[in-house]
Amino acid sequence: MKYTKIIGTGGFLPEKILTNRDLEQMVETTDEWITERTGIKKRHIVAAGQTTCDLAEQAARRAIESAGISPGDIDLIICATTTPDRIFPSTACLLQARLDIHGIPAFDVQAVCTGFVYALSIADKFIRTHAATCALVIGAETLSRIVDWNNRATCVLFGDGAGAVILKASDAPGILSTHLHADGAYKDLLTVPAGISENPGLLQQGKAFIAMQGNEVFKVAVNSLSRIVDETLEANQLQQSDIDWLVPHQANIRIIMATAKKLKMDMDHVVVTVQDHGNTSAASIPLALDQAVRDGRIQRDEILLLEAFGGGFTWGSALIRY
Ligand code: COA
Repeated sequence: MKYTKIIGTGGFLPEKILTNRDLEQMVETTDEWITERTGIKKRHIVAAGQTTCDLAEQAARRAIESAGISPGDIDLIICATTTPDRIFPSTACLLQARLDIHGIPAFDVQAVCTGFVYALSIADKFIRTHAATCALVIGAETLSRIVDWNNRATCVLFGDGAGAVILKASDAPGILSTHLHADGAYKDLLTVPAGISENPGLLQQGKAFIAMQGNEVFKVAVNSLSRIVDETLEANQLQQSDIDWLVPHQANIRIIMATAKKLKMDMDHVVVTVQDHGNTSAASIPLALDQAVRDGRIQRDEILLLEAFGGGFTWGSALIRY
């Protein structure tokens, strides 16, 4: 039986930082309001011309270095993104060219903020079925390009960044389980209601922006994440106390705290980056993971619970023996 092991992590954030104080100059809001409702203090924003693939490439190179492999060892690339550079080719293909790797499968996954968990689950299945041995899985976003900077209800929430992992086939676990869910009935609660074949005019005018019913999203997120914690623990016959680290999607500190409470977990064992990154959608979990691995909090053999919720709605978890 082959398992999937994380052998390297990497993260990258664009240089420019936008603080809550900066936002006070742009829309009618306050640092206090944003901090109290979301936990966010600042977020990183790409420079003009800087793309999702630019961020993904830096995160990927750092993950490759930390894994001690060379790009030629990779035989699968999956990029989770909602903000691809182009309609096509996929950002994964653009990245493949940058890394000078040829012929191996490379594709994008679109599950919004749950994208990284979806991508991880797909890569795990490739490896377990011997279709791949060494996968590069990335979450990368330039959400600032789909944010309406005049809308205070959404512009305070999001940021840009990329995170990556290298996965390798292993005789020891590894990724213990993944659980994925979606319910398209909620399509209008969190959406960019424009694209190639629906409202293309908005896209052409540069008005394809995130629209959200924040209150409703909040409630469904907390309930769905609570259920997926139960589902994950039950499937693995584990207790709450068996989890060493919660590595959640970083949307809102209050959603994160609700999941930690469900796990009866002290916040010291929750990796929190939302104050510095905002919501970077598919990038948020691999960025948080990379930070906690690099600063020595997460150690080999510990049990990690990754969980995410996002547009679709989509939600999912991954339980990992690191
Ligand atoms: N600054 C100041 N006031 C703001 C504001 C801002 N940036 N954004 C909204 N408000 C106002 C609203 O206009 C409203 O005013 P009103 O009462 O006069 O109408 C008031 O604050 C309360 O708005 P409401 O939306 O009810 O606040 P909330 O407590 O639900 O918090 C969110 C808003 C967005 C922070 C919260 O709903 C949330 O985090 N939802 C989840 C969003 C999310 O995580 N999305 C991504 C999922 S992956």
